Amino acid sequence: MVSLAALVQLACLLRAASVLAQESTASPTLTLSTAIPSATAPTSSELPSQVSVPPKQAWCPSEIFCPGELLQTVNIAHLFPDDKTFADKPTSKSSQEVLAAFRNITNDTTYGQIIDFVEQNFGGEGRELEALTVPDFDPNPSFLQNVTNPLVQAWSKIVHGYWTQLIRGTNSSNLCGSDSECESSLIPLNHTFVVPGGRFREQYYWDSFWIVEGLLESQLYSVVNSTLQNFMDELDTIGFIPNGGRIYYLDRSQPPLFIQMLDRYVKVTGDRSILDRALPLAEKELTWWHDNRSLNVTSPFTNQTHLVYHYSVNNSAPRPESYLTDYMTANDPDAPTLNDTQKADLYAELASGAETGWDYTMRWFKDGANDGSLRNLGIRDLVAVDLNSILYRNHIALADLYGSSNDQADTHRSAAADLHTAVLDLMWDNDKLAFYDFNLATNKRKNFFSTANFYPVWSGIIPDALLQDSKAAFGHFASVNLVLSRYNGTFPTTFVNSGQQWDGPNTWAPHQYIILQALRALPANVSSGNPPSTEDGQSSWDLIPSGQLGMEENQLPPQPSNTGNITNTGPNADINVGNGTVVNGGNATSGEGWSVMLQRELANRYITSAFCSWVATGGSIEGMVPRLSPELLNITQSVNNTGNMFEKFSAFDVDSAGRGGEYTVQAGFGWTNGLVMWIASNYGNMLNAPECPLITLEDAQTSSASLNASPVMWTVAIAMAITALL
Ligand SMILES: *[C@@H]1O[C@H](CO)[C@@H](O)[C@H](O)[C@H]1NC(C)=O
Ligand SMILES: *[C@@H]1O[C@H](CO)[C@@H](O)[C@H](O)[C@H]1NC(C)=O
Ligand SMILES: *[C@@H]1O[C@H](CO)[C@@H](O)[C@H](O)[C@H]1NC(C)=O
Ligand SMILES: *[C@@H]1O[C@H](CO)[C@@H](O)[C@H](O)[C@H]1NC(C)=O
Ligand SMILES: *[C@@H]1O[C@H](CO)[C@@H](O)[C@H](O)[C@H]1NC(C)=O
Ligand SMILES: *[C@@H]1O[C@H](CO)[C@@H](O)[C@H](O)[C@H]1NC(C)=O
Ligand SMILES: *[C@@H]1O[C@H](CO)[C@@H](O)[C@H](O)[C@H]1NC(C)=O
Ligand SMILES: *[C@@H]1O[C@H](CO)[C@@H](O)[C@H](O)[C@H]1NC(C)=O
Ligand SMILES: *[C@@H]1O[C@H](CO)[C@@H](O)[C@H](O)[C@H]1NC(C)=O
Ligand SMILES: *[C@@H]1O[C@H](CO)[C@@H](O)[C@H](O)[C@H]1NC(C)=O
Ligand SMILES: *[C@@H]1O[C@H](CO)[C@@H](O)[C@H](O)[C@H]1NC(C)=O
Ligand SMILES: *[C@@H]1O[C@H](CO)[C@@H](O)[C@H](O)[C@H]1NC(C)=O
Repeated sequence: MVSLAALVQLACLLRAASVLAQESTASPTLTLSTAIPSATAPTSSELPSQVSVPPKQAWCPSEIFCPGELLQTVNIAHLFPDDKTFADKPTSKSSQEVLAAFRNITNDTTYGQIIDFVEQNFGGEGRELEALTVPDFDPNPSFLQNVTNPLVQAWSKIVHGYWTQLIRGTNSSNLCGSDSECESSLIPLNHTFVVPGGRFREQYYWDSFWIVEGLLESQLYSVVNSTLQNFMDELDTIGFIPNGGRIYYLDRSQPPLFIQMLDRYVKVTGDRSILDRALPLAEKELTWWHDNRSLNVTSPFTNQTHLVYHYSVNNSAPRPESYLTDYMTANDPDAPTLNDTQKADLYAELASGAETGWDYTMRWFKDGANDGSLRNLGIRDLVAVDLNSILYRNHIALADLYGSSNDQADTHRSAAADLHTAVLDLMWDNDKLAFYDFNLATNKRKNFFSTANFYPVWSGIIPDALLQDSKAAFGHFASVNLVLSRYNGTFPTTFVNSGQQWDGPNTWAPHQYIILQALRALPANVSSGNPPSTEDGQSSWDLIPSGQLGMEENQLPPQPSNTGNITNTGPNADINVGNGTVVNGGNATSGEGWSVMLQRELANRYITSAFCSWVATGGSIEGMVPRLSPELLNITQSVNNTGNMFEKFSAFDVDSAGRGGEYTVQAGFGWTNGLVMWIASNYGNMLNAPECPLITLEDAQTSSASLNASPVMWTVAIAMAITALL
C-alpha cells in the first residue's frame, strides 16, 4: 500500500532530484572576479599623510603583503571596500620589479599613481586557487533517509550539493614560487580542501570542524582526509595550524579543533591508518599551545595554581587583511593619541581577537569599558572558557586515540584532569549555574554571559551540581529556553547589541552545534524530566538563575515585529510559545524530556533560519517552494540570486542574515552547510517544514534609494504555498 502522501512526496523528490542532478554533474567553475581599484578621492589628489610604518614583523615573510610601506600606502588609498582584497592579489611581476615600481612613486603620491601601480603590478585575487570536482560525490548520501519531512529532505539534498561549489585546490599553474614570476600571500596546500566561501577563499582552521561534520554526513571521506592532511602538512612545516591559508595569518592560530576533526574522521570511517602520521603531529600541536599560550593562574577561590590557556598573539602591526581598519582604530583622530607602545599593544589585542574566532565581541572588552571601541580589548588577560574546554577535550580525545594502556595516553588523561579541575575552579559559578571567563586583570570571573557558557559541558566538564539535580541542569540551559520562547531565531552569541559581529543579535553555526551537543552530553537522569513549570505571571525569564545573564530582564534586546518592538518583560514577551511548544520548533511529543525538547526546538529553528534566508534571497525548489516574486527579491537585493547560505544569522529574524562587524555578510557557507547536514542527520525525524515570515523592508541588506522610505509590507506566504503543494 502506498499512500497518496507518499506518492506526492516521491514526485516532489524526483523533481528536486532532477534539478540537483543537473547541478552536480556540471563541472565546477570558480568565478574569479577581479576587484577593480576605485579611488575614494580625485585621482590627481595626493594621498593623505600617514603615520610612520609599524615595526617589521618577524613572523611575516613578505615585503609586499606584510606590514610595511607598500601595504600601508596602498591601504591608505582605500581602493577596495574590503582590505583583504589587496592582500589576496598575487603580483603580476617579480617581487623586485614590484618593489622597484613602488619605490618609484613614493614621493607626493597621488590616488591615480596607486591605482596604476596596483593595476600594473597585481593580478586577480585568489587566482592561485582552483575549483575541483570530487570523485566520490554521491548525490544521495544516506543521511537524507533520516529526514522525514519531504521539504526539509529535498532542501538538505540541495545543501549537500553545495560542496561542489566550495571544493578547492591550489592551482599550481598559477602558483607563484621560485620558478614563477610572481609572489602571493597564499600558503599553497598540497591536498583538496573546502573553503567557507565569499572573502574566505582559503582553507580556514576552526571553520573546518563544522565543514568536516557536514562532509562526514555527505560521505565525502576523501575530502575530510585531505583536509586533515593539509593541517598535518602545516603542523609539519609551520609548527602550528594558522588561522587560515595565507602568510598574513602566520602570527596566530584559531580555536584548536584539529584533534576533534581527526577524532570524528576516525570514529566515522574507522580509518586508523591516518594515526601513524597524525598522532605525532597532534602532539606537536598541543605542545605549541602549551609553549605559546599557557600560563599559571593561582585561584582566588582555592589558592590552587592551574596551568591554563589564553589567546595571545605576538604582533605589533595592523593585520594585513584588515590593515586600514586596524590602522584607523589605532590612529583614530577622534580618540586620544596613542604612543607606539600603546599601538603595539592594541595590534596584539586585535590579532588575539582574530585568534579567538570571535572577532569581535564585548566579551573581550576590559571591564567597565563599553563605549564600543575596539581600543578596549583585553583578550590576553582572559582565561577563555571555550579555549580551555576545547583543550580539555583534545587531551581526552588524543588519549582515546592512543588506546588504553600507553604512557602518552596517561599523560594526556592527567593533563585533561588538571584542566577539568581548573575550569571548575576558575570559571564555574555554582550560584549562577554558568561558566564565565576568568579575568587576570581583576583576578575574578568576568561578569559577562555568552555562548562560551556551553563549551565545558560539550567538552565533558560537567559540574556536580548539574549531575545531581535536574532543576540545576535545566538552569544551566535556561537561557536557551528563553531565546526559543522570546525570539524568532536561534541563540545569539551574547545578549548585547554592540554592532560587533560576535554579539547579539547575530547567531552563528558553531554555537548552535555546541549547545545541541552540550544538551546531549547530559545524563538522562537529569535531562529526561519535564521542564520546570512557570506559575501564573511568570515567564521563561523566571526560570533563569538570578544574575546569570548579567543583566535585568528589561535590558534584554526586544524582539522586533512588523508593528514595532514586542515587550521584553513578563509573560507577554514569550511570544513564540504556544500549543506546548514554540513557533518553528517542531512538534512536541509527550514525555520527550526538557533536553530533547530544547534540542528539537533549536534544531528546527536553525533549519528555519538557514532555509528562510535562503528562500528570501532567491532559493526555490521545483514543485515545492516557488521562487519569490521579483518585487520581494528586490527588497533583499537578490533578483539575480538563487538562494544564499549565510555565514551568520539573526536571533530576531529567520528571513535574514546577521549584520555588523568589519566586512559585509558572506555567503557560501561552509559551517552553515555543515550544520544543516549534521542537524538533518541527527534530528531528521523531528524537523518540520519551516514557516517563513513575511519579507519586510527591514529585511533589506542595505537601504536602497529606489524603495519607499515608509515600511511597506509585502504579502508573501511561503508557508501557505508549501502546505498547498504537499
Ligand atoms: C618610474 O617612474 C617613471 C616616471 O613615471 C617611469 O618612466 C619609469 O618607468 C618608472 N620606473 C619603474 C621601475 O617603474
Ligand atoms: C623621494 O624622497 C626621498 C627622500 O626625500 C629621496 O631620497 C628619493 O630619491 C625620492 N624619490 C624619488 C623617486 O624622487
Ligand atoms: C542518520 O543516518 C545515518 C546514515 O544513514 C545513520 O548511520 C545514522 O544512524 C542516522 N542517525 C540517526 C540519528 O538516526
Ligand atoms: C589520505 O590521504 C593520504 C595522503 O594523500 C593518502 O596517502 C591516504 O591513502 C588517504 N587515506 C585514505 C583512507 O584514502
Ligand atoms: C607540498 O609539497 C611540496 C612538494 O612535495 C613540498 O615541498 C611542500 O612542503 C608541501 N607543502 C606543505 C605545506 O607541506
Ligand atoms: C607553570 O608552572 C609549571 C610548574 O611550576 C612550570 O613548569 C611552567 O613552566 C609554568 N608555565 C608558565 C607558562 O609559566
Ligand atoms: C589563600 O592564601 C592566602 C595567603 O596565604 C590566605 O590569606 C587565604 O585565606 C587563602 N584563601 C583560600 C581560599 O584558601
Ligand atoms: C606610552 O603611554 C603610556 C600610557 O600613558 C605610558 O605609560 C608609557 O610610558 C608610554 N610609552 C612611551 C614609550 O612613551
Ligand atoms: C517574529 O515573529 C512574530 C510572530 O511569531 C512576528 O509577529 C514578527 O513579525 C517576527 N519578527 C520578525 C522580525 O520576523
Ligand atoms: C526597538 O528596540 C531597539 C533596541 O532597544 C531600539 O533601538 C528601537 O528604537 C526600538 N524600536 C521601536 C519601534 O521602539
Ligand atoms: C497553535 O496551533 C494552531 C492550530 O494548529 C495554529 O493556528 C497556531 O498558530 C499555533 N500557535 C502557535 C503559537 O504555534
Ligand atoms: C507535526 O505535526 C503536523 C500537524 O499534525 C504534521 O503534519 C507533521 O508531519 C508533524 N511533523 C513531524 C516531524 O512529526
